[in-house]
Amino acid sequence: MNTFTVVTMPGDGIGQSVLPESVRVLEAVGFDADYVHADIGWDFWCREGNPLPDRTIDLLAQHKLGLFGAITSKPKKEALAELDPDLRDKGLVYFSPIVAMRQRFDLDICLRPCRSFPGNPLNFVRQTLDRRIDEPVVDVAIFRQNTEGLYAGVEWTDPPAQVLEAFETHKKFGFFKGTPGPDLAISTRIFTRNACRRIVRAAFEHARKFGYKSVTVCEKPNVLRETSGMMEDEAKRAHQDFPEIQLWSTNIDAQMMWLTKNPEDYGVIVAGNMFGDIVSDAFAGLVGGLGFACSGNIGDEVAVFEPTHGSAPKYAELDPPIVNPIAMILSAAMLLDHVGETEKAERVRAAVAAVVAEGKVRTYDMLKIAGGPLSIGRGAATTQQMTDAIIARL
Ligand code: NAI
Ligand code: MG
Repeated sequence: MNTFTVVTMPGDGIGQSVLPESVRVLEAVGFDADYVHADIGWDFWCREGNPLPDRTIDLLAQHKLGLFGAITSKPKKEALAELDPDLRDKGLVYFSPIVAMRQRFDLDICLRPCRSFPGNPLNFVRQTLDRRIDEPVVDVAIFRQNTEGLYAGVEWTDPPAQVLEAFETHKKFGFFKGTPGPDLAISTRIFTRNACRRIVRAAFEHARKFGYKSVTVCEKPNVLRETSGMMEDEAKRAHQDFPEIQLWSTNIDAQMMWLTKNPEDYGVIVAGNMFGDIVSDAFAGLVGGLGFACSGNIGDEVAVFEPTHGSAPKYAELDPPIVNPIAMILSAAMLLDHVGETEKAERVRAAVAAVVAEGKVRTYDMLKIAGGPLSIGRGAATTQQMTDAIIARL
């Protein structure tokens, strides 16, 4: 019996191509673990009416550690049309299993590191005044609150009576008073102090552990005074326990404008759910995009690591697969960090860095060519070849 058991959830599409590759890397680096497969995704919605079966929840509750590939989700009507005919009149509604997993296990901390690997042709470059090419080294860790804010699902069109009543009676809603329910769409942005405190503390602790010199709160407190304001207040409070780390603050809009100006200046960034989503995609774009973007969903008990990309259906059926496994492999390295195997995690990242720097083995995205069955003929490595190269470096 090994120390750890990892619940592997390949899910849909290219999730099934990349997840086994990350397990090969974990085994090659000598991580002491057993692996147990769990079902998740579209097939289980179609066949069972539940994309996150209870047996998968049980496995996660038992083993606490998950690797997740990707899932496919489709709009309401298509979801219903693909459901097993025997299940169609049962009133089942499709939900995102990854959102459900985050809520079920209170995986409130989303960590998305964005690091540029020297030699990656996808790295952001800019021009100097004398027209030379300048490639900043980006090394940012984004902490995104994962369960609250605009993505918490507290929203309505044609809201129920209790909610409508607030519109009729509270003066803050005065501007909207009298709008008929069917003409009202509401998505709420609710922050709790406890969740703000947890995410900012996680950000500071990460900065200390990995030697970042600053934590930047990326919100919009001049306009969203209450929610962004609470995040800022809690950051200031947490900062007292981390005096060696600087606390900076930027507005999400300005941060997007500065993104390409000085991305090398930022260390740890912390934000609410939606702004964290935006700022992490933005930084991921500077360091290679979806083929490189890894993430962790971390709660007090359970943690699940996954690439940021989805199931990329157009590449799902290709044999051999051609998508870049690095995002999944870096997510597995985050799992190693999480369980305290930092040295093994660093070895995996160093192996990825070495393969990228050498530049001999590159998946289609790294060659900036169209993906598809012809990309191999044009010099692109397959998914397995990329993993083989990384393992060879271990
Ligand atoms: P996607 O991330 O699946 O793919 C977009 C494009 O990015 C692909 O067509 C491909 O060109 C590129 N790409 C993605 N992963 C890559 C990799 N590893 N290597 C090289 N290129 C890669 O996003 P899309 O097309 O918007 O969504 C497809 C499905 O995935 C949808 O059903 C969507 O709901 C779902 N999705 C699931 C996510 C998750 O499981 N966490 C996240 C995002 C989308
Ligand atoms: Mg996103």
